[in-house]
Amino acid sequence: GSTNQPYRTAYHFQPPKNWMNGQLGLFGFADPNGPLTYKGFYHLFYQYNPKGAVWGNIVWAHSVSTDLVNWTPLDHAIYPSQPSDINGCWSGSATFLPGGKPVILYTGIDPQNRQVQNLAKPKNVSDPLLREWVKLPQNPLMAPTESNKINSSSFRDPTTAWLGHDGLWRAIIGSKRDRRGLAILYRSKDFVNWVKAKHPLYSEKGTGMWECPDFFPASIKSSSGVDTSIDGPEVRHVLKVSLDDTKHDYYVIGTYSASKDKFIPDKGFEDTNSVLRYDYGKFYASKTFYDGPKNRRILWGWINESSSVSDDITKGWSGIQAIPRTIVLHKSGKQLVQWPIVEIEKLRTNQVNWPSKVLKGGSILHVSGVSAAQADVEVSFEVTKFEKAEVLDPSWTNPQLLCSRKEASVKGGLGPFGLLVFASVGLEEYTAVFFRIFKSKDKYVVLMCSDQSRSSLNKNNDRTTYGAFLDVDPVHEKLSLRSLIDHSIVESFGGEGKAGISARVYPTLAINDDTHLYAFNNGTSSVKITSLRAWSLKKAHIN
Ligand code: FRU
Repeated sequence: GSTNQPYRTAYHFQPPKNWMNGQLGLFGFADPNGPLTYKGFYHLFYQYNPKGAVWGNIVWAHSVSTDLVNWTPLDHAIYPSQPSDINGCWSGSATFLPGGKPVILYTGIDPQNRQVQNLAKPKNVSDPLLREWVKLPQNPLMAPTESNKINSSSFRDPTTAWLGHDGLWRAIIGSKRDRRGLAILYRSKDFVNWVKAKHPLYSEKGTGMWECPDFFPASIKSSSGVDTSIDGPEVRHVLKVSLDDTKHDYYVIGTYSASKDKFIPDKGFEDTNSVLRYDYGKFYASKTFYDGPKNRRILWGWINESSSVSDDITKGWSGIQAIPRTIVLHKSGKQLVQWPIVEIEKLRTNQVNWPSKVLKGGSILHVSGVSAAQADVEVSFEVTKFEKAEVLDPSWTNPQLLCSRKEASVKGGLGPFGLLVFASVGLEEYTAVFFRIFKSKDKYVVLMCSDQSRSSLNKNNDRTTYGAFLDVDPVHEKLSLRSLIDHSIVESFGGEGKAGISARVYPTLAINDDTHLYAFNNGTSSVKITSLRAWSLKKAHIN
């Protein structure tokens, strides 16, 4: 129950117990029997340890949903059963073949502990729950050999495949050669025989192993999603890699040359201070999928614990999934924007609505009327006194470092202002999600931070502060912040989804009904809250 398990979440996906990591084969699925039934299911497959709260013994656990909010568990979909996966069923992706038949490509660990790629198909395509999966006897379909020079311990996580105009399927596999990260490209006519291309789709030196690559088109004209095989002048392409070295998900926007089978990013992954991330907090091994019936692309990411392994073992579980996010290319073309799926809003109840109010420098205002351990908050700020903005030192290029130097308790000119979430009544504990505005040569720079340094009296947790620069012009635009709060996680979105920051926290006082929510301003100059809406969120039915 919630008294002895205060950190279990109410509306974030998690298994009933044990370890989960990311790498979802995930898709929206409309019943292939067609118009006779409209009962569509979403399938979530996740990396799961049936035997404990730490990584190991990995199988594909399986849950289904009709709304991406409430989930029903099914039996494990894929588990070791063939030589080609006998030591583990690691990450992979689903692809719809013509006729709407789903298949899964996944990494298996073979008897020599080599990483190889396998295919599984539903046993019965007319079962909308896709309970049973059969593996091809030809597995593995891709493997390291003497001649292909693939590193057998760095060859994993096949993407959703895309179909070229030449009728060939393509998929990429994450890899590395020395310190060069690689998106190894394979092609196939029949999805069974796969041939390695001479050149990777893309590679970059100095980045280390690329886990869970994702490669997909994004429309430049509309906010609808597009299917993975769509190509042409109306889309740009996105390559996301999960860097094993830093445990962050980075993406670049660029052009896919189908004739050369190469991806040309506008700007590569080299500068880790400025390369874009889906989330500047905890968020890893994410995947997108195209949700055809709703015409959108959805991003899922795995969020691991910030507690110690021994605490994880004691509580008996580790890992949650972020709330699925729709992602679209921003109209500037420079970045993606993401927003929690609209379905989560049906959990909202007991709305609190503030009229616009001034938040004076040094003030803290209680947001009463919401169950603050399980809430959704949207707040907009308007700033006018720009002369108070601090000057940005040109050497402050790392937003996370800047946020940790200038935590919520450090008074500024314009900011810090934002929310105190998971706050105890005496403020012995709080997590601060806030903005600071700096003056640089010719513009104002907005910094968004999530400061966990005072989140818990239990100092055994990782309380790293996170930060991002937000590409918003505060002179002409309002500064918005949305936070989804759920017992041990706060997922925050700044600038209408231009930056996300997810943090795991484990308060000891600010739990359940003893959790409070505040708006605060620890700057010298006042800012205006133009709107604040908050809701308690109901518990979802999860597993
Ligand atoms: C990412 C990852 C993947 C791998 C899986 C194993 O965290 O390491 O590269 O397939 O987890 O569970």
